[in-house]
Amino acid sequence: MEPNPTSVSRVVGQPIVAPLTRAAIFLVVTLKQGTDTRATLRSFCGDLSGIFRAVEYRNIEAGLSCIMGIGSDAWDRLFGLPRPAELHAFREIRVGARHAVSTPGDLLFHIRARHMDLCFELATQIMARIGNAVSPMDEVHGFKNFDDRDLVGFVDGTENPRGEAVADAALVGAEDAAFAGGSYVMVQKYLHDMNGWNALSTEAQEKIIGRKKLSDIELDAAVKPTCSHSSLTTIEQNGKEMKILRDNMPFGSAAQGEFGTYFIGYCRTPRTLEQMLENMFVGRPPGNYDRLLEYSRAVTGNLFFAPSATFLESMGHD
Ligand code: HEM
Repeated sequence: MEPNPTSVSRVVGQPIVAPLTRAAIFLVVTLKQGTDTRATLRSFCGDLSGIFRAVEYRNIEAGLSCIMGIGSDAWDRLFGLPRPAELHAFREIRVGARHAVSTPGDLLFHIRARHMDLCFELATQIMARIGNAVSPMDEVHGFKNFDDRDLVGFVDGTENPRGEAVADAALVGAEDAAFAGGSYVMVQKYLHDMNGWNALSTEAQEKIIGRKKLSDIELDAAVKPTCSHSSLTTIEQNGKEMKILRDNMPFGSAAQGEFGTYFIGYCRTPRTLEQMLENMFVGRPPGNYDRLLEYSRAVTGNLFFAPSATFLESMGHD
């Protein structure tokens, strides 16, 4: 895998900081029962960087990257102790009609490149190696939409941290030294009610998101509702804004009328991701929830830990 310039000491991280790309595959699988599963997966962890390099070299300019995340139960089965300090299963939230579901998922592969052929080839090679040991749960092929807009028409990703702030937001540091350079990853697959959303005026949509639709400028504090998506996902701790790194992707099927956003967020602690979700689903204060959820339904939900590439390699060679 690519060396990560923000790696902590000599640990090589997975390419969480990889630039946002035009194509992505989000692959979630569960581990099968069986005695071979652990051995298959552990040797795969050691070989993933080699498989990656072979696919990457076919078009080195395409910026292929791959991040492997491991769920809480799978961590115990595959690696045991030590484990990342804050790794646990996705905590579902259900309030009235709003439901952040928790769905099965032991491993995540977040594969990105400028072109889908590389993503697809890497997913194919990964499944050729581990297919006997895993069951597929979900595979989403995401694409970049005009101006980096999601399918509800707003530019998505603007307030992502940049430069040095990325590592500060997304990578575990000295607080869990054994797992420094790793990252907690939350994914949720959302489906949009496009008819309902399109029936709203642009002004109503802008109040829901908290930004202007065409220009992407943040709404003035005087008119921006406290329940706007951008207000509820802005959180502070001890006067410091707590950031996550997102790389959401639109996906869909025109014929089936499926229009979605695949949410993916990386953070050095799952607490920040969970606080944002709670603000969206429960509300801040409770009841003052995110109206985007009246037009967007989460159909999957998982939490993973993406350890450093150094850790993954070492698991394959013991
Ligand atoms: C239906 C799913 C979602 C859609 C369509 C969506 C869309 C957007 C859009 C358009 C923005 C404004 C531009 C930007 O800064 O990127 C935004 C901001 C943001 N979203 Fe989401 N989002 C979704 C789900 C989530 C979830 C589940 C989380 C967190 C758990 C989240 C966290 C954030 C954060 C942290 C910001 C930046 C807020 C700021 O600093 O102003 N989003 N999102």
